[in-house]
Amino acid sequence: MKKSSRPITPHRGKLAILLPGMGAVATTLIAGCMLARRGLAKPVGSLTQMATIRLGKRTDARTPKVKDFVPLAPLEDLVFGGWDLFPDDALEAARHAKVLDAAHIDAVAEELAQVRPMSAAFYPQYVKRLHGTHVKQATSKADMVEQLRADVRRFMADSGADRAVAVWCGSTEVFIEPTAVHATMDSFEKGLRESDPSIGNAQLYTWALLKERIPLANGAPHFGVDFPAAQELAREVGVPIAGKDFKTGQTLMKTVLAPMLKARSLGLAGWFSTNILGNRDGEVLDDPDSFKSKEVSKLGVLEHVLQPELYPELYGETYHKVRIEYYPPRGDAKEGWDNLDIFGWLGYPMQIKVDFLCRDSILAAPIVLDLALLLDLAHRSGMRGTQEWLSFYWKSPMTAPGLYPEHDLFIQQTKLKNTLRWIMGEEPITHLGREYYE
Ligand SMILES: NC(=O)c1ccc[n+]([C@@H]2O[C@H](COP(=O)([O-])OP(=O)(O)OC[C@H]3O[C@@H](n4cnc5c(N)ncnc54)[C@H](O)[C@@H]3O)[C@@H](O)[C@H]2O)c1
Repeated sequence: MKKSSRPITPHRGKLAILLPGMGAVATTLIAGCMLARRGLAKPVGSLTQMATIRLGKRTDARTPKVKDFVPLAPLEDLVFGGWDLFPDDALEAARHAKVLDAAHIDAVAEELAQVRPMSAAFYPQYVKRLHGTHVKQATSKADMVEQLRADVRRFMADSGADRAVAVWCGSTEVFIEPTAVHATMDSFEKGLRESDPSIGNAQLYTWALLKERIPLANGAPHFGVDFPAAQELAREVGVPIAGKDFKTGQTLMKTVLAPMLKARSLGLAGWFSTNILGNRDGEVLDDPDSFKSKEVSKLGVLEHVLQPELYPELYGETYHKVRIEYYPPRGDAKEGWDNLDIFGWLGYPMQIKVDFLCRDSILAAPIVLDLALLLDLAHRSGMRGTQEWLSFYWKSPMTAPGLYPEHDLFIQQTKLKNTLRWIMGEEPITHLGREYYE
């Protein structure tokens, strides 16, 4: 199916990337973009910057880089802004996060110091382990949203940016499922006026950003963007949204290994995953209510990939457990262990062990960059509401109501690349390949 000939508004001027939450991931992204555009480091892990895309037949030899195929904003044209409940500028915050070497931080220190967070919309009951001072006072949650909207307008005027996108890089909030308040735009606005306790901090940013017509993605596992009222608003104002929970370490592994087991009809008796990490994210997840948000997000993956209802003999009894342990000595250098008890021909048991010594923010930063650039592209292409084609980046991909999410990384990648082809009016690639043999 070729795309209709709807034009893509060209990129021009500056693109602002607005980051609610300027901690480890956000500052690693900002510093990384600054280093990459000076040629001091490479944006490894970013599909938009590093990957290619095949167009047409394998014999056509048309394989441009993604960034040369779709009209993305170049790194040179990005400006950064954000909010945090700690007043540290991006230089101090990056030093505090201890993700990047001093040499990398020092090389862009002056530029980083220019990025100062705006004060946060923060009610502490949604993130119990944090106590910051750089916070707004408001008479109601509706007033809080208005203050955030004023921040956005001020930032756009001061920075001279042409347009903006936002990616939530703030802490994981306590688990609150959407309620009747989240059902419609009217009920949500009433809830804002009444400061309804089921409206968390992240949802205040969502409302403010969507009202300002800014595309938005949610990197954390809480229901920041995926609630019906936000979807209604996004469609009404013509803005794309995506989420949730960056797929970086252990879940990335899971969405590669589990489809492999299923593809080969191998059984799975149990999968035990445990992590140790010592950054601020780990500290926040040490609170059982915040961990619950993460646990729900991580557990859903296997259920959807393995489809035990269709494969009861292979996955009907799978025991799945996920633990995250806060262990300060490791900082951002997380270690994720997975033990898989699998079974094969005639039911004979086998085991797979994975020990991933990863760096959380190093894996997350390129995802934030890609999401920002692709959401901006989607916006300029007239796409609005939930962008399921960005599932590639999420532990819990948002979908249309009634659709189960697709978790298999390579199906997600195919979907993403086919969507880029579709946006540009190229034929999608089905991998049928009959034409080479007929
Ligand atoms: N790094 C990864 O691999 C990864 C993967 C999946 C999800 N995530 C999620 O990404 C988010 C960021 O991770 P991180 O390691 O940078 O965490 P971090 O703790 O270093 O940074 C989060 C920042 O958000 C700020 N914050 C919290 N509530 C806020 C609010 N209401 N307004 C403004 N600022 C607020 C905190 O003060 C903190 O500085 C977390 O929710 C984490 O769970 C990270």
